[in-house]
Amino acid sequence: MGVVLITGANRGIGLELARQMAARGRKVIGTARRPEEAAELQKVAKVIALDVADEASVEGMAREVGDEAVDVLFNNAGVSSKSPKLEVCTKEELTRVLAINSIGPVLVTKALLGNVRKGERKLVVNVTSQLGSIARNEGGSYGYRASKAALNMFTSCMAKEHKDVTFIAMHPGWVQTDMGGKNAPLKVEESVSSMLLALERVGTADSGSFLNFDGTTIPW
Ligand SMILES: NC(=O)c1ccc[n+]([C@@H]2O[C@H](COP(=O)([O-])OP(=O)(O)OC[C@H]3O[C@@H](n4cnc5c(N)ncnc54)[C@H](OP(=O)(O)O)[C@@H]3O)[C@@H](O)[C@H]2O)c1
Repeated sequence: MGVVLITGANRGIGLELARQMAARGRKVIGTARRPEEAAELQKVAKVIALDVADEASVEGMAREVGDEAVDVLFNNAGVSSKSPKLEVCTKEELTRVLAINSIGPVLVTKALLGNVRKGERKLVVNVTSQLGSIARNEGGSYGYRASKAALNMFTSCMAKEHKDVTFIAMHPGWVQTDMGGKNAPLKVEESVSSMLLALERVGTADSGSFLNFDGTTIPW
């Protein structure tokens, strides 16, 4: 059985994914920008350094993974944006958010595609947001919304190109993490257990889908 690899696994949804996968007896590789500070993750996973916005770091991570089979790749690492309205958008801020939330998952997936092909599930989960839905757009959050809309399109492109791998864009719900805040309705445990249940039902026919944490479809 191959490993489950989770980016941004030192806290939040990524850490809970690592915990629940390890509890199921899965071998987990979790990435963190600073592995030496990822004490909780160290308890349940092998930790590899990764900054998804840094190409050299992505290459270094892939070298460390080596030829290990990856059953499931969770592109989970992400940031919120500081661009609530047009007047405050800057090139620097928009570029930062897109580099981490959209381009990072592309670089990581490209670097690990061979490993995913060796896995049994051959599943890549891009942790997106319903804020990336153009159909449901209510405005605001320019950088974050655009970064997740771009991630959704990258997911669709990958699914069209590589039919032997299942690519899913999945919204985890509004979750109580540093990003989601205390007012979020979902506990991180609930979000992750629901996502994992929904992902058990996913196969190649679903590749290129934009799914909610409960497995229902979100309009593009
Ligand atoms: N929470 C929600 O309500 C919610 C809703 C929809 C979608 N999401 C998505 O779910 C995913 C996880 O969110 P979360 O709520 O768990 O957020 P979080 O608690 O803020 O954790 C974010 C994780 O991403 C990592 N990260 C940030 N920038 C990175 C970079 N350049 N390279 C590698 N790792 C990086 C962080 O590492 P550091 O500790 O080093 O910063 C951390 O491990 C994100 O993609 C987010 O957009 C969350």
